[in-house]
Amino acid sequence: MGAATLDDFRTDVSLQDLMAHVIDYNAFGVWRRQGWIIGDEVVELFPTDDDGWHAAESAAFSTAEAANLLLLPGRPLDDDRAWVDAAHMLYDASMRAQAAALAREKVDFFIAGSDMYQACVACHNRYVTGGSMEPDPTLKPLPGREEPPEQ
Ligand code: HEC
Repeated sequence: MGAATLDDFRTDVSLQDLMAHVIDYNAFGVWRRQGWIIGDEVVELFPTDDDGWHAAESAAFSTAEAANLLLLPGRPLDDDRAWVDAAHMLYDASMRAQAAALAREKVDFFIAGSDMYQACVACHNRYVTGGSMEPDPTLKPLPGREEPPEQ
């Protein structure tokens, strides 16, 4: 166990900052390195060299570990297991993304990335949008991020 106790965690960072600067930031490190743009030609977004795959793997590891931060004392918004389940879903999918990046398995990496997204939606739908799946107008877009399209 070591000498650390629950009291040793520092949890001053707000949930909003944790989301924007840690969870979202690292999840996009995965998502921006995967997929296909299908037009007259098919453009692949997957890494093309070891540096790119290493970056993808680091982003996946970072998102997985960040999922644990959601479970630190004071972070869950209620006592319902739904919060824990969503955090675990994000951890598991991120670790699958990491393994797929290590193995250079594009399709598996892509599927794990979409499963990561499902974990975000599972939690947001319950805790942010109240089950409506509508975008919450009170959430600010991140700097440099395009506004979501009008519904
Ligand atoms: C276990 C629950 C949970 C999971 C999993 C989760 N979120 Fe969140 N997220 C929240 C909550 C709650 C808020 C609202 C925080 C607030 O406004 O106080 C939020 C807000 C956000 C915001 C808005 C932050 C801001 O600046 O206001 C972003 C962006 C975000 N989440 C991205 C993500 C992404 C991307 C994922 C998945 C990779 C994810 N979240 C997974 C609970 C979760």
